[in-house]
Amino acid sequence: MQIINGQIFLEEVPVTTLAATYGTPTYVYEENRIRANFRRALAAFRKYYDDFRFFYAIKANNNLAVANILRQEGAGIDAASVNEILLAQKLGLGGEDVMFSGNFLSDDDIRQGLESGVIFNLDDISLLPRVIKLGRPEFLSFRVNPGYGKSEVGDFVTNAGPGAKFGVHPDQVMDAYRLAKEAGVKRFGAHMMPGSCIRDPEYFRFITELLMDIIGHAARELDINFDFIDLGGGLGIPYKHEDHLLDIEKAASLVADVFQKKIAEYGLKPPRLMMEPARYFVGDAGYILGQVHAIKDSYSRIIGTDVSMNILARPAMYGSYHHIYVNGREDEPRTKVGLCGQVCENTDFWVRDRELPSGIALNDIIVVENAGAYGYAMSYQYNGRLKPAEVLVNGKQHWLIRERETIEDLVRNVTVPKHLQR
Ligand code: LLP
Repeated sequence: MQIINGQIFLEEVPVTTLAATYGTPTYVYEENRIRANFRRALAAFRKYYDDFRFFYAIKANNNLAVANILRQEGAGIDAASVNEILLAQKLGLGGEDVMFSGNFLSDDDIRQGLESGVIFNLDDISLLPRVIKLGRPEFLSFRVNPGYGKSEVGDFVTNAGPGAKFGVHPDQVMDAYRLAKEAGVKRFGAHMMPGSCIRDPEYFRFITELLMDIIGHAARELDINFDFIDLGGGLGIPYKHEDHLLDIEKAASLVADVFQKKIAEYGLKPPRLMMEPARYFVGDAGYILGQVHAIKDSYSRIIGTDVSMNILARPAMYGSYHHIYVNGREDEPRTKVGLCGQVCENTDFWVRDRELPSGIALNDIIVVENAGAYGYAMSYQYNGRLKPAEVLVNGKQHWLIRERETIEDLVRNVTVPKHLQR
């Protein structure tokens, strides 16, 4: 994003052009920023550990145009469901380029996961006999709950530790690999996902050590090796402008250092090191263009926009902060106002008190920052408010990459029984 003479550009396209071409609300992604984020992170980790690979957690943004950018950069796919495996297949990826990390799977999920031939990452020891019964894979990974989790999004997004529903309890890890080995599994992986949006490099060292100690003991006792060890996602971005960036070089060097020490300590054959971030790649490359449609002066001044909670769920769900720019007014003095969307829920009053340009007026275009991850992917149709359009920009070029929904999408799959039709 850049601001030139007060006008906001995404890459080199004015937001006024984008809003006039595609309407609002619209998600816009900067292709070059996604590539730069990926390359920065990959270079940092490869610098300290050569056999390193990223899988992209497609749940954060499943637009195939966006995912194809990351595929071109060399990412595999982390799939949370069978449908995400199918999305990966639409990218031309399968086999060991895709990892299936579902949780609380049905037999159908297991069957389809096995048929797809991707790497199976089991969330619990109880899944093992079911997976073996339905078609024993040669290659198997377990998602370990290392007993500790953290998140800057809030407690809602803590993915490990005693309060989390995810992963194999540390005390069951040894048995999990033992049973898999006894069942004839030949190749093993290990995985964890203890937290999301972390900007403290030391956290990544700490969780790596935790995991390596848990699985290192199991490997030594059972005389197995790991083809890969996956540290999950969690690479954070700053949402508030006063927050610092994650020092990715430092995170990579701390992780690689403890990883290599633990490999030596447990006498492991050096495994591939993997991570599966999403937010770090796409979060700050995505924006929502919205428009001011009404302004109310009541108990306080409230700016009404079309960026509603169904378009961006994070503030209503987690109290998340997203920076807001007003096109053409960033140089104006600021005044405290609230800002809301158009949904009939008071959680849609998602900015209570923010310094915004004092002249903000009807039809102004607003730009909501850091919306590339868990934005569109978490949108929904409540209040008959439809899902927005998605657009990709690269330099001066722009493409519609998902059409705005219409009323047809709201009634698709709905059937009214005959006796109710008149
Ligand atoms: N791997 C697994 C198994 C995951 O569950 C996730 C995210 C990731 C990787 C990617 O994590 P990341 O690098 O983006 O932190 N909706 C929340 C975030 C939920 C995270 C869910 N798991 C939000 O809007 O902040």
